[in-house]
Amino acid sequence: MITALVRMGEDTIIAHASELLTLRGPKRARIRAEMADLSIIPDGAVVVSDGVVVDVGRSEAVLKKHGATGMELIDASGKVVMPGLIDPHTHLVFAGSREFELALKLKGKSYLEILSMGGGISRTVKDTRAASENELFSQSARRLESMIAHGSTTIEAKSGYGLDRDVELRILETTHKLGQTYPIDIVPTFLGAHSVPPEFEGRSDDYISFVVDDVMPEVAKRSLAKYCDVFCERGVFDVEQSRRVLLAAKALGLGLKVHADEFVTTGGAELAAECGAISAEHLAKPSDDGIMAMARKDVIGVMLPGTPFTSMTGIYADARRLIDLGLPIALGTDMNPNCWNESMQFTMALACYQMRMTPEESITAATFNAAAAIGLEKRVGSLEHGKRADIVMMDVPSHAHMPYRFGTNLCSLVMKNGTVIWRKDAGLQS
Ligand code: NIG
Ligand code: FE
Repeated sequence: MITALVRMGEDTIIAHASELLTLRGPKRARIRAEMADLSIIPDGAVVVSDGVVVDVGRSEAVLKKHGATGMELIDASGKVVMPGLIDPHTHLVFAGSREFELALKLKGKSYLEILSMGGGISRTVKDTRAASENELFSQSARRLESMIAHGSTTIEAKSGYGLDRDVELRILETTHKLGQTYPIDIVPTFLGAHSVPPEFEGRSDDYISFVVDDVMPEVAKRSLAKYCDVFCERGVFDVEQSRRVLLAAKALGLGLKVHADEFVTTGGAELAAECGAISAEHLAKPSDDGIMAMARKDVIGVMLPGTPFTSMTGIYADARRLIDLGLPIALGTDMNPNCWNESMQFTMALACYQMRMTPEESITAATFNAAAAIGLEKRVGSLEHGKRADIVMMDVPSHAHMPYRFGTNLCSLVMKNGTVIWRKDAGLQS
């Protein structure tokens, strides 16, 4: 876990928000109707001291109680104030880009076909291995700055474009450096089992042994990752190989995540439940048994609607059904070279327009449930007494406008640990 180096902000009151979305509610990931309850305070105010939330309420009452104490006042009239957005699934650190794959997709090539032609992940592995440390840092930093400007205050970031010992470690080190340089918390995940690199072609079992025996212990020893993930998919790693990775990671004290049932029903959801993963991601094609097993074991389903959008499969996770079956749902950008999406706002719009989530559900999935998907729900994801003052101001009169309007940045102010770190008119604050 990386803690962003942000000095603690001044004591501040943000007042007169047309809606203050507190997300107050159960202390575990929200399910079913709970996902639609944002605990909204109209004409709301939030009081921040020493980097944490110390009070919330109606502006009049809050200003009466705290107003004369010389705090800085931010006027949020006409705007929505809410917890900072949390992106629980990104592949932030890589080099290069794959814009040319759009033409292949337009010709009808599928994601897995492009991968088997040496494109996809393999292409990005090549570019990432060839990049210097500085290039890797600066290319990733530009994406991170954009994520902050779009309201993300905490993100997860996976390795997985090195696929050898040195470059996997370099990606995780770069992730740490980014978290120390920028005012954002970054939760690092080891995804050594993302694809089979060329030097192990046709020997995927040997590659799994390499990941488990030669790389993972070093990652754990140096505390370079909080979670371990695996791409469990036909043509990538099967359930048995994925289980080996996950059990080895568990034995080393890492938390578990699974890229599961993205394109084909493989049993990834069942595996996530069996191994005690905190989350399973994608889930466009899970079996009902797999979903029920996840729900029983409190495994969070992380939906990534940007991926079917850019892979042009048209097959989105059936969020309505998953919510009805009692699965807690979070949303993530899946920011990666196949899906260059830095905005949780756009992700929320896709969740509503393509997966039929309601605006309220999409907001819960992008804040509190996203925090739970990276084990941080006690610290961030809602505006409640004692939680980190990670707060965003959206230039919309009500929360329903947020997923409704898409393609522009609605964010006007981002606060991290009580300090304003980005303003629409002034950009990133140093
Ligand atoms: O989550 N599915 C596997 N990994 C990424 C894609 C990585 C890539 O295409 O570079 C994903 O979509
Ligand atoms: Fe992913």
